Order: sequence, then C-alpha cells, then structure tokens
Amino acid sequence: MKSSRFMQAAVLTFAVAAVSLLAGRSQVFAAQNPIPPPPQNQPDTAPKHEMPAPTNLKVLPKDLTGPQVHEIMEKWEGELGTGCKTCHAVDPKNLGPNGKPRLNFADDSKEEKQTARKMYKMVEEINASYIAKIDSSGDPVTCGTCHRGHLGPEPFVAKPEKEGPH
Ligand code: HEC
Ligand code: HEC
Repeated sequence: MKSSRFMQAAVLTFAVAAVSLLAGRSQVFAAQNPIPPPPQNQPDTAPKHEMPAPTNLKVLPKDLTGPQVHEIMEKWEGELGTGCKTCHAVDPKNLGPNGKPRLNFADDSKEEKQTARKMYKMVEEINASYIAKIDSSGDPVTCGTCHRGHLGPEPFVAKPEKEGPH
C-alpha cells in the first residue's frame, strides 16, 4: 500500500512537471508563430500618429482610408529602400513638436512623387495586361521586383559563363 501511494505521488509529480513543460513549450511556440490579430484589432498595433483621409490621390484608388494609404507608403519605402522625404516635400510653415518642419504629403512639388505615380501606373498595367495573361505563379510585379531595396534599380550584370560541359 505504501509503495502504491508513493507511485501515485510520483505519477502526480511527473504529470505536473509534464504539463508545465508543455505549457512552457507552447508559449515558446506561440511567440515564434504569433497569430495575426483580426483586422478590427489593427488600431491597437498601428503607430499612434494621425492618419487623415487622403485629399490628393491621382493614381491610387480615391476611396482609400488614411491607414490604407500609410500601409502602401510603408511598402514602397521598404521596396525602394528610401524614406518618406524622398517623395514628399517639407512644409516650412508646419513645425512639429520637435521644431522640425513636417512633411506635406498632399503637396506635389517633388519630381520623385510624380515619377512614383508613373511607376505605379506602369506596375498596374504590367500586371493587368501581361502578368495576368500568362500561366504564372500568381505573384504580381511590385516596385520591389525591379528596385530591390534601391531608389534607382541597379543594372543587372550577368555572371560570366562558366567553363565546362553544358
Ligand atoms: C517613392 C515615392 C514615395 C515614398 C517613398 C512615399 N510616398 Fe507617400 N505618396 C507618394 C505618391 C506618388 C502619392 C500620391 C498617390 C496618388 O496620387 O494616388 C503619395 C501619397 C501619400 C499620402 C496621401 C496624401 C494626400 O492627402 O493625398 C500620404 C499621407 C503619404 N503619401 C504618406 C507617406 C509616408 C508616411 C511615407 C513614408 C512612410 C511615404 N508617403 C513615402 C509617393 C511616395
Ligand atoms: C519594371 C521595373 C520597375 C518597376 C516594377 C518599378 N520601377 Fe521605379 N524605376 C525603374 C527604373 C528602370 C527607374 C529609372 C532608374 C534610372 O533613372 O536610372 C525607376 C525610377 C524610379 C524612381 C526615380 C528614382 C530617382 O532616382 O529619382 C522612383 C521614385 C520610382 N522608380 C518609384 C517606383 C515605385 C513607387 C514603384 C512601384 C509602384 C516602381 N518604381 C516600380 C524600374 C521600375
């Protein structure tokens, strides 16, 4: 009888240890594979600065919300390896809390912004008129397809052909 009580205690201890081990592992698993929050949770994770509705869209769909425009802008930023200031002019009359002028996103005076509009239309055209018509992987052409993290796409130089049997 005594030994079986000992066994019960041992089994219980083992079970508790196993459960806490599993719980620990599932926490690690959850941290490595975060479940994306449902869309209605996005305002919680989004940056806290203001994102007013756009007023001067000429190529993007005009009904985009401020956060939707922001999301596209951050994608372009990453794909071109550049910052907002490359395409958007500063407004010397609108100083931020740090005393630095803010960007006037609706302003059209920068050449790069005009170029980006042409590029956007080109990409739409490439996807709708060409990529959509071939039997492809379904991956569309993006700014990054050519730019690859650079403002000016780097010229492609093929590797010299290797010697040896073909
Ligand atoms: C490669 C150039 C480029 C970069 C980089 C860029 N933008 Fe833009 N942005 C544009 C263009 C072009 C438009 C206008 C799109 C249109 O006409 O439909 C625009 C429009 C906007 C608008 C809407 C303005 C309005 O009221 O119509 C906001 C806001 C904006 N950008 C924010 C940003 C922010 C924030 C960043 C940096 C994270 C950024 N942009 C980076 C090119 C750029
Ligand atoms: C098919 C390839 C291709 C795609 C896709 C593409 N670009 Fe370009 N982009 C170019 C080339 C080529 C240049 C010109 C480089 C030069 O002047 O030497 C350029 C130039 C630019 C410039 C001017 C850079 C400068 O130095 O002033 C901007 C801004 C730009 N692209 C934005 C975009 C944006 C935004 C997208 C996506 C909406 C995009 N591009 C998609 C090929 C591409």
